[in-house]
Amino acid sequence: MEKLLIVDDDKGIQKQLKWSLSDYDVVLAGDRETALAAVRRHEPKVITLDLGLPPDEANASEGLAALQEILTIAPHTKVIVITGNDDRTNALAAISAGAYDFYQKPIETDVINVIVARAFSVAAIEEENRKMRAVAGSDIGIIGNSESIERLRMMVKRIAPTGITALLLGESGTGKEVTANAVHLASDRKKKPFIAINCASIPETLLESELFGFEKGAFTGAHRTTKGKIECAEGGTLFLDEIGDMPYSLQAKLLRFLQEKSIERLGGRQEILVDVRVVCATNQNLEQMVADKTFREDLFYRVSEITLNIPPLRDRDEDVIILSQYFLQHYAIEYKRNVKSFSEDALSAIKSHKWPGNIRELQNKVKSSVIMTTGTQVTAIDLGFLEHQDKSFELSLNLRVVREQAESIAIQKAYALSEGNMSKAADLLGVTRPTLYSLIEKYELKINA
Ligand SMILES: Nc1ncnc2c1ncn2[C@@H]1O[C@H](COP(=O)(O)OP(=O)(O)OP(=O)(O)O)[C@@H](O)[C@H]1O
Ligand SMILES: [Mg+2]
Repeated sequence: MEKLLIVDDDKGIQKQLKWSLSDYDVVLAGDRETALAAVRRHEPKVITLDLGLPPDEANASEGLAALQEILTIAPHTKVIVITGNDDRTNALAAISAGAYDFYQKPIETDVINVIVARAFSVAAIEEENRKMRAVAGSDIGIIGNSESIERLRMMVKRIAPTGITALLLGESGTGKEVTANAVHLASDRKKKPFIAINCASIPETLLESELFGFEKGAFTGAHRTTKGKIECAEGGTLFLDEIGDMPYSLQAKLLRFLQEKSIERLGGRQEILVDVRVVCATNQNLEQMVADKTFREDLFYRVSEITLNIPPLRDRDEDVIILSQYFLQHYAIEYKRNVKSFSEDALSAIKSHKWPGNIRELQNKVKSSVIMTTGTQVTAIDLGFLEHQDKSFELSLNLRVVREQAESIAIQKAYALSEGNMSKAADLLGVTRPTLYSLIEKYELKINA
C-alpha cells in the first residue's frame, strides 16, 4: 500500500479523510513539525495539507511554511492543499509555491480519491522519467542524477557545438574520457572519429610521430608515410589525455597546431590543414606547472578556454547507487549471469565506501561481483567488502577463517579476471599452478578447471 500523509489539525477531518482514503497506508500529522518528521520518516509520495495549522489556524502562514519546508527536503512530493471553501487566494499562493493541486472542503470521498490517485500516478511517472533520464538520458554516455552531474551534462551540451577547447579536471576514474567523448557525441562531429591519446603512456620520442605522423624516410624504419592521430581525427574530436605530461619540447608544436589548425608531418615540408576539435584532460595542477615553467603559459591558456571540473564519486552520493545498478545490469547481460540486484548489506557497503578509485573502482567491483556471486543477489562479500558481513558470520570468525576467506575470494577473483585460464590465474596470485589446484581443492571452490 502506498504511504499517504494527511496533515490537518482538525481530528474530525483527519478521521474523515482517513476513512475516505482507505486504499492507502495513511499517516497522520496535526502540525508543521509532526508533518516534517513524518515526511522524513515515511517519505510519502503524496501529502494532503490543510493550510490552517496551529498556531495560526485562521490563516495560511503555517500551512504555507510547511509546504515550503516539505518541498525543500522532498522536492518531488505531490502536495495537495486542502482549503476552506472561500479561500482561493491561499490556494493559489500554495500552487505558485509548488503545491501539486488544491481541494476545497467539504470532503467528498469520490472526488478526493480521484485527486489523490492521480497525484500518485503523476508521482510514479515522474519518478520513472527521472530514472530513465539518469540512465538512458545519458544519451551522451554520462550516467548519474546528482546535481553536479546534471550541471556537467548541461555544460557539455552547451560547449559541444562551439568548438571551444575544453580542459577536463578530475581525479583518476571520475570520467574524464567519458566526458570528452560526451563533448564529441553532443557536437555535430559525432559521426566523425573520436580519437584519444594518452600523453603519459607514450614515450617522448614516439609521441611526436604518434600525434603528427611522418613521411616515408623521415627516420630509420619510416618505411611509408603514416598519418598521425591528429590527421586521423579529421572532422572529429581529439582527446589529449594527461596533457600535463606533454614534453616541453612538443608543447610549441602542439600550440601551433591549435592556433593555425595546420600540422606538418615529421620529415614533411608541407603544411596540412586539419579540422579537429580538441579536448584535454589532466589530474595535474597546470597552473603550478606554468609557475614552475614546465608547462607553457600560452599553451595553458589555449587549452583551457573553458575548464570543466568532474567531481569525485564520494561527492556524488546520488550517483553511486544509480551507477551500481547500471553496471550490475550491464555485466549481468555481458556475462550472461542471472544476477538481478544487490542485497541490503551490499547497498549499505556501497553507500559507505569512499571510492578512492572513483567510477572505475565501482565498475570493477561490480563487474567482479557479478561474476563471483552464486545467487541472483550480489552481497557485500561478493563486492569484496568483508567488514560488511552479517553478524552471525562475524561471530564465527578467527584469524584462520579470515585468511581462508580472503584466499578463496582472491582465487575466485583471479580466476574470473583471467577468464578461466589457470596459468594466468596462478601468475596473478603469485603461486604455481599445482599450488593453485591444491588451494581450489582445499576450499572446495566450484571452478571447472
Ligand atoms: N558518468 C559515467 N557514467 C558511466 N560510466 C562512467 C561514467 N564516468 C566514468 N565511467 C566509467 O568509469 C571508467 C573510468 O572513466 P574514465 O576512463 O572516463 O575516467 P578518467 O577520469 O579518464 O580516469 P583516469 O584519470 O584514470 O584516466 C570508465 O570505464 C567509464 O566508462
Ligand atoms: Mg582517462
